[in-house]
Amino acid sequence: MSNKMWGGRFSERPDEIMEEINVSIDVDRHLFAQDIAASKAHAAMLASQGIITNSDAKNIGKGLDTILSEIGKGDFEFKRALEDIHMNVESRLSELIGPAAGRLHTARSRNDQVATDFRLYVRDIIDETDAALAAFQAALVNRALEHAATVMPGFTHLQTAQPVTFGHHLLAYVEMAARDRGRFQDARKRLNESPLGAAALAGTSFPIDRHATAKALLFDRPMANSLDAVSDRDFVLETLSAASICAVHMSRFAEEIVIWTSPLVGLIRLSDKFTTGSSIMPQKRNPDAAELVRAKTGRVIGALNGLLIVMKGLPLAYQKDMQEDKQGAMEGFAALSLAIRAMTGMVRDLVPDEAKMKAAAGEGYATATDLADWLVRTLKMPFRDAHHVTGRIVAKAAEGGVALHELPLKEMQAIEPKITKEVLGVLSVESSVKSRTSFGGTAPKNVAAQAKVWVKRLEKERK
Ligand code: ARG
Repeated sequence: MSNKMWGGRFSERPDEIMEEINVSIDVDRHLFAQDIAASKAHAAMLASQGIITNSDAKNIGKGLDTILSEIGKGDFEFKRALEDIHMNVESRLSELIGPAAGRLHTARSRNDQVATDFRLYVRDIIDETDAALAAFQAALVNRALEHAATVMPGFTHLQTAQPVTFGHHLLAYVEMAARDRGRFQDARKRLNESPLGAAALAGTSFPIDRHATAKALLFDRPMANSLDAVSDRDFVLETLSAASICAVHMSRFAEEIVIWTSPLVGLIRLSDKFTTGSSIMPQKRNPDAAELVRAKTGRVIGALNGLLIVMKGLPLAYQKDMQEDKQGAMEGFAALSLAIRAMTGMVRDLVPDEAKMKAAAGEGYATATDLADWLVRTLKMPFRDAHHVTGRIVAKAAEGGVALHELPLKEMQAIEPKITKEVLGVLSVESSVKSRTSFGGTAPKNVAAQAKVWVKRLEKERK
């Protein structure tokens, strides 16, 4: 028997391999809710335009509701022979309501149908990701308030650079997440136009109302060009780009957690909830969740690359290649969602070793810049000269194996006679961070104020 949805001119069954390569139900079944919502909107519009009768539209709507609840309850049999979600739903509809089901596909094609379903799906993903990122930000902001004055080493080149506060470090990721959310919102705005009614590629001769279906599905407007509507997947690419950048942020933070929890560093500790043991080395506490966040990033970026490559050579309009747009994207979005939730969990869970952080912040002459700045401010030395003098003082301290604040004043004065004992006031890590009061700087009072700004912003958003 040939396919009952499109088999009119076919007399033979497809080869098994044909069926195997053609089938997409294992992936696009995840679009069931969007597919049913779009079909309901389409049927209602067909009736109000007088293209089908009200009673057919009513039966179609009821039948679609039944299918939705069957799928929800796991009572629906997805058939591979029916290829995809669209034909699975339509075929079940005809079992449920008879010939009226055959009127649902008037003035549409699977080409505009799948484009519509996938837009709705990606829009839902964007909304879920936004909520997950807001929760991630809230977790960070709470910890930042708690640690606004906790001093830790700041690094460049992974070398101790200048003391910063742990709260400041955490707020850096709040800012990144805010830009990630902005990128998802930008993608959402451009995505939010309806392809439905573009039909196969050319539009339709039926007097449809595309504005009505767009509105019913909460799109801002119908897409203006039918060829474009069925043939672009830039909305997926754009969302995957935002997802990739976001995943890179998660991955960088995850990498820091891996470094910080290493016994060699030991700046933070994760509880049993976010570590795993080794099957052979009983002493181990591995930061597996952080490592996997780092790895999941590869899946997200891979999904973006994969789809860019699928799309790059396709002429207008719909090509079957586009059926390969869903699997990688869905897996990529799922990987990102898990990564964000795992990072949120670790942010809530981690405990900094404050004593170790403070000690590490003072190592490696991290307050050398403070000394140079003091020479500039108090002795009116040009910064370049101050830099040179400080370098000689650091070398002297290193020679004696002591920290800057432990170096006898006399030794400093041997290098620069005008140095007074007041200099000792700027050499501690606390005084260093306290002095960084420039806008966006790491001073505890800046950090506390900035964290409070975020608390308010996030609260306001929730209303
Ligand atoms: N399963 C298809 C997809 O995901 C639906 C569109 C098929 N259209 C067609 N003319 N064969 O792209």
